[in-house]
Amino acid sequence: KSFFTPISGGSPPSPTKRPTKITVVGVGNVGMAIAQTILTQDLADELALVDAKEDKLRGEMLDLQHAAAFLPRTKIQASVDYAATANSDLCIVTAGARQNPGESRLNLLQRNVALFRHIVPPLAEHSPDCIIMVVSNPVDVLTYVAWRLSGFPANRVIGSGTNLDSSRFRFLIADHLDVNAQDVQAYIVGEHGDSSVALWSSISVGGVPLLSSLERQQIAYEKETLKSIHKEVVQSAYEVIRLKGYTSWAIGYSAASLARTLLRDQRRIHPVSVLAKGLYGIDGGEVFLSLPAQLGRNGVLGVTNLHLTDEEAQQLRTSARTIMEVQSQLGI
Ligand code: NAD
Ligand code: LAC
Repeated sequence: KSFFTPISGGSPPSPTKRPTKITVVGVGNVGMAIAQTILTQDLADELALVDAKEDKLRGEMLDLQHAAAFLPRTKIQASVDYAATANSDLCIVTAGARQNPGESRLNLLQRNVALFRHIVPPLAEHSPDCIIMVVSNPVDVLTYVAWRLSGFPANRVIGSGTNLDSSRFRFLIADHLDVNAQDVQAYIVGEHGDSSVALWSSISVGGVPLLSSLERQQIAYEKETLKSIHKEVVQSAYEVIRLKGYTSWAIGYSAASLARTLLRDQRRIHPVSVLAKGLYGIDGGEVFLSLPAQLGRNGVLGVTNLHLTDEEAQQLRTSARTIMEVQSQLGI
């Protein structure tokens, strides 16, 4: 017996489009921040949560489901079994160890690679056409690992990379100039972490190139001031981890913004971790690191050809070498 009385000739309408499904693996601080941002921003029709801890997983699922009356309608499932992830459009991996105060991201590698061997193959098996987005750290090396373990083409495996660092950068520049961060175009590229590179030469605010405009107005800017802003970006996560134990809200918004661009085919440009071999003079192996990339329903559509100064290009290649050195210990 149905709740509704059918009207004459009215058979239930057949769905006009396939539902959009997102899987989030890992329901810790980061996974839940991403999940709740996805829900509030109405980015998926179905959300599947996976974790190794059954009680925590069910608790988080129920807690989100209990907000149904306040949210756009999304079917939320949770399971330790990867069958629940079947036919996802996007799989976001956040599972794994996180840094202790003062610990570097790269130090997490061996622990998290071991987990990825249990996570990525079943994801790829149940959603062979999905896009995988890696968030767990060290994100660049783990994106490479996910690419290898999934067997997917490189356009369908991305790392959240410096989309977050670039937001921190834009916030600090905006704060410095007392403007809106959304009007600041500025990129951090390279490793998501200590060897990241700030692209000062391409910053613009409301369409005005920053450095040349300062020069034209003969406003002296100290290279040290610029360096200290970048240093603050690099230190941001360490500071938040020292203060609250982990970072979560900013990466939640960062990953949701990537999900929106990918699933709604927005073709926006985001700095994310992509296969960078052969780009910007990066040679010597298959390495994933962040470059401004155009994203859409097919994943990575292309990487922008930015003009880098010699110093920036050199720093980018050094960042690539740092990641490759860590990667070479993997044996994958
Ligand atoms: P957390 O400890 O709160 O959560 C990790 C979750 O992973 C836990 O729920 C745990 O049960 C789960 N897990 C462990 N092994 C698993 C497995 N085999 N299968 C499924 N789930 C498993 O940690 P967090 O604060 O959420 O951080 C998660 C990761 O995200 C860390 O690696 C952290 O460094 C990284 N991180 C990345 C960024 C970024 O910008 N890329 C930002 C913040 C955090
Ligand atoms: C970040 C994590 C820790 O917030 O990578 O930058």
